[in-house]
Amino acid sequence: MRTQVGIVGAGPAGLLLGHLLHRAGIETVVLEVRPRAHVEARIRAGLLEQGTVDVLTATGLGDRLHREGLVHEGIELRFDGEGHRIDLAGLTGKRVTIYGQQEVVKDLIAARLAAGAPLLFEAEGLAAQDLDTERPRLTFRQDGREQVLDCDILAGCDGFHGICRDAIPAGLLRTYERIYPFAWLGILAAAPPASHELIYARHERGFALATMRSNSLARHYLQCRPEEDLAAWSDDRIWAELHARMAGRDGASPIKEGPILQRGVTAMRSFVVEPMRQGRLFLAGDAAHIVPPTGAKGMNLAVADVVVLARAIEAWHRGRGMALLDAYSSTALRRIWKAQRFSWWMTSLLHRFDGGDPFEHKVQLAELDYICRSAAGALTLAENYVGLPLEAAP
Ligand code: APR
Ligand code: PHB
Repeated sequence: MRTQVGIVGAGPAGLLLGHLLHRAGIETVVLEVRPRAHVEARIRAGLLEQGTVDVLTATGLGDRLHREGLVHEGIELRFDGEGHRIDLAGLTGKRVTIYGQQEVVKDLIAARLAAGAPLLFEAEGLAAQDLDTERPRLTFRQDGREQVLDCDILAGCDGFHGICRDAIPAGLLRTYERIYPFAWLGILAAAPPASHELIYARHERGFALATMRSNSLARHYLQCRPEEDLAAWSDDRIWAELHARMAGRDGASPIKEGPILQRGVTAMRSFVVEPMRQGRLFLAGDAAHIVPPTGAKGMNLAVADVVVLARAIEAWHRGRGMALLDAYSSTALRRIWKAQRFSWWMTSLLHRFDGGDPFEHKVQLAELDYICRSAAGALTLAENYVGLPLEAAP
């Protein structure tokens, strides 16, 4: 099999890259190890930056997003039992949209199939080879048969557990990592959201987040231990903990209960590899970096990466050489590190650190108070939360 750009992974990164390149008249093959139903059902992040919505809208993927997405103009920070609104739209002129990652994935799959572009499910990338030549190749297995995909360019969009990052000799990659001493227990419940906007709560019992997927589907998270045993969490215990962490000074909780439809524990880590490239292999999205979910940046970073990568591939395709592709990693990393910083900062600001000394605790509260009472403090949070602009290539 032969194509111009071979794309490993049909998450948001791989599918959007395929979509952008298809629109630019560039041939691609997308390979995904999982079945379509699995990819479309996987519940992940759910918050789109304004820039992400703009990219999807400008490339013909906005219909359902604008019909079903919930546009938010602010968020609430809760600490010491009091809520403080950060007016995202008033401060930045930008908004965010709640729309599940798997909905973005469904829209991208539908667009690709409608365009008749190749998307192979249950096709497992095995090895990315000949990266330093002009004909990189991917061996993959489908229906028990090994095949080879010859390309001009390979895009590793295969997530954190993919194979592409490992195809780069370890000596050429630098890894930066932080693992946090806590995780998130997340639930999806058939209940109205706690409020019309997201509530991020810092509490002595630990962090809690009240978010949503629609006006009748609530999504909530509780800080827990990394090795937390879900079996120890009855529905009653989950609701009681959410009420306790979200309650105001008067003891009233905004959380509304309903049947719990799904639950899971998400580990928290910060991770970056540099460079995001080896020869003709380019990494994008979770294959190259992970953020803790507190800043809601994971999917948005994947989108920003592939916008930069698609432009660079298009320039190369139009005969303008490798300059933008050579700059891809450093261009993408400038923005990635700012999102890393923001995600780490939001995480540090809002979580309970066991064993943290009382001084740190007081500083955390002072910082929250500063953000909520200073226009400069609020603006710093708001402009990062709605998403920083894409970096221009040097
Ligand atoms: N061959 C083919 N496909 C693979 C392989 C392989 N060897 N290994 C992994 N994949 C697939 C996975 O099954 C997955 O569907 O690659 C896809 C990677 O998608 P994501 O994990 O969603 O990563 P990405 O597209 O970078 O999107 C990042 O996902 O995890 C969230 O928080 C993260 O929101 C962020 C987003
Ligand atoms: C979500 O809706 O799942 C969500 C929203 C904001 C976050 C993290 C997760 O910071």
